[in-house]
Amino acid sequence: MSKARQTLLDKRAAAQLGGGQARIEAQHSKGKLTARERIQIVLDEGSFQEIGAFVTHRSKDFGMEKLSILGDGVVTGYGRIEGRLVYIFSQDFTVFGGSLSETHAEKICKIMEMAMDNGAPLIGLNDSGGARIQEGVVSLGGYADIFYRNVQASGVIPQISAIMGPCAGGAVYSPALTDFICMVEGSSYMFVTGPNVVKTVTNEEVSSEDLGGASVHGSKSGVAHFTMANEIQCLHGIRQMISYMPSNCEEKAPFMDYEAGNETREALANVVPENPNHPYDIKEVIEQVVDSGSFLEVHKNFAENIVVGFARLAGRSIGVVANQPAHLAGVLDVHSSQKGGRFVRFCDAFNIPLLVFEDVPGFLPGTDQEWNGIITNGAKLLYAFSEATVPRITVITRKAYGGAYDVMNSKHIGADMNFAWPTAEIAVMGAKGAAEIIFKRDIQSAADPAQAWKEKEQEYSDLFTNPYRAAERGFVDEVILPEETRERLIAAYAMLENKVKNNPKRKHGNIPL
Ligand code: HXC
Repeated sequence: MSKARQTLLDKRAAAQLGGGQARIEAQHSKGKLTARERIQIVLDEGSFQEIGAFVTHRSKDFGMEKLSILGDGVVTGYGRIEGRLVYIFSQDFTVFGGSLSETHAEKICKIMEMAMDNGAPLIGLNDSGGARIQEGVVSLGGYADIFYRNVQASGVIPQISAIMGPCAGGAVYSPALTDFICMVEGSSYMFVTGPNVVKTVTNEEVSSEDLGGASVHGSKSGVAHFTMANEIQCLHGIRQMISYMPSNCEEKAPFMDYEAGNETREALANVVPENPNHPYDIKEVIEQVVDSGSFLEVHKNFAENIVVGFARLAGRSIGVVANQPAHLAGVLDVHSSQKGGRFVRFCDAFNIPLLVFEDVPGFLPGTDQEWNGIITNGAKLLYAFSEATVPRITVITRKAYGGAYDVMNSKHIGADMNFAWPTAEIAVMGAKGAAEIIFKRDIQSAADPAQAWKEKEQEYSDLFTNPYRAAERGFVDEVILPEETRERLIAAYAMLENKVKNNPKRKHGNIPL
C-alpha cells in the first residue's frame, strides 16, 4: 500500500477512536454510547456520510497545541431516516468532554447551513461540558454562531435535539431554540448553572438530577418534550418523530400507505359519561379516532390538562390538541396554554393539519394563575390557533365554555370544520353557575329558593347546554354521533387537502411571549 493511502487510513482509524479507548470504556461504563454508536442507531444502517473528520482545534493556550484530536469533539455529517435525508451532529464526550471549541462550533454551523440550503431536518445529539474552557471567549462566540443559525432555521427545517449527557451553560440554549428536546432518564441533565453555582448564589443544595434531570424537565419545567428510559429508546424516538414531519416548510406533511376499511368506531358511543361532571380519558377518544397505534404524545407528563401529539388519520400526518377532562377537568391554565400554543405553531410551520378535541370548562381562576400571567399565556394559544393556516378541525365532545370556547380552535378564529357530539354543551358557563347569576333575584325571592334554583338551572340548561344553538348559527358545522367521528374527519381532511390561506403580509407577528 502506498504511503499516501496508509496515511489516510491511519488518520481515519485515529478519528474513529476520538478521545481513545480508555475514555470510550469510561463512557460505556456510565451506560452511555459513544457519539458514533449513537449515529449508527438513529440513522438507516450504512447511510451515514461524515463531513469534517479531520478538523482540529486552533488553541495554543494551556498546552493545548500538544493536545489535538481529530474531529475536535463532534462528529458531523448526513444520512437517511427511512430513506429520507437528515443532517446530524453528535458531540463526543471522550474528546475534552464534548466541550465546544471554535472549530467544534464551525463544524456544527457548516452542517446547519447545509441542512437549511438542502431543506432537510437537523438532528443534534448533545453530550458536552459546555464552552471549551481553554478557549475563553472564542468558544462563547461559537455558541452564539450556533444560536443564530438555530433561529434562522426555525420554521424552515425541523430541528430535533437529544440530550444524552450533561448540558450546562451555553449548551442548553441551542437545544432550547430547536423544535423538540428529548432527554434520557438518569444520564442527562440541563441547567443554566449547575448545583455548585446554585449553592454559592442561593445557598440551596440540590442534586444535578433534581435541578435539571429528565424527570424535572419532562414534568415541571416542560423544557423536555420527551423523556426516554435509555439512549436506544431516545434514538428510536427521534426516528419516529421524523416520520410525522415534512423535510422542510415547503413540503406537505408525509402520507403513509393506508388501506380503507370500516371507519365506524362503536366504542366512542359511550365514552362521555352521563354525568357531565364525571371525568373520562380523552386519550381513549384520540386512540379510537386516529390510525391504530399512531399517536405519539408530546409533553406527556407536563401540563397534563391538555394532550398534544402527532398521529395519522387514514395515513395522513396530523397534530392533535385535546383538553383532558381526566386532569383538572381539562381546564386551561398557564402551562397548558404554553404547551398547546407551541405545538400548534410547530404543526402550522410544517404544514401538519390540526385536529382539536374540546372539552373545556374555561380558564383556571385564582391568584396563582393571574399573577403568573394567565392572560398573556392564554393569549399564546389563542394567537397560535388564530394565525394557523393549515387545515383545522375541531370536535366538541362536551364542554365548550366561556373564553375557552373561542380559544380552542373555534370557527370564529379560522377553524375549517367544527363538529359537535350530541353531548356538547356550548355556553358561557355551566347551567348551575349561570342560573345563580342571572336569576339571583328570582331565586332569593322564591318560596323555596333551592327548588327555584333547580328550575332555573334546568331552564338555562335546556336552552344552552347542547350543541344546537351553535349549530343554528353555523358556529358548529355538523352535530355527529361519536362513532361517526373518524369517518367524518377522514372525509373532511381530504376535502381540505388543497387549502390555501395566507395571513396578511408583515415582517412577523408579535405573539404575546
Ligand atoms: C474543556 C472539559 C470541559 C470544558 C469537561 N472537560 N468539561 N474540557 N472545557 N468545559 C474535560 C475534562 O477536563 C475531562 O478531561 C473530560 O472533559 C471529562 O470531564 P470529567 O469532569 O472527567 O467528567 P465528569 O466527571 O463526567 O463531569 C462532566 C462535567 C464536568 C459535569 C461536564 O466536566 C464539568 O462540570 N465541566 C465543566 C462544565 C462547565 O462549567 N462548562 C462551562 C459552562 S459555561 P480529561 O482529559 O480528564 O478526560 C458555558 C458558557 C457558554 O458553557 C455561554 C454561551 C451563551
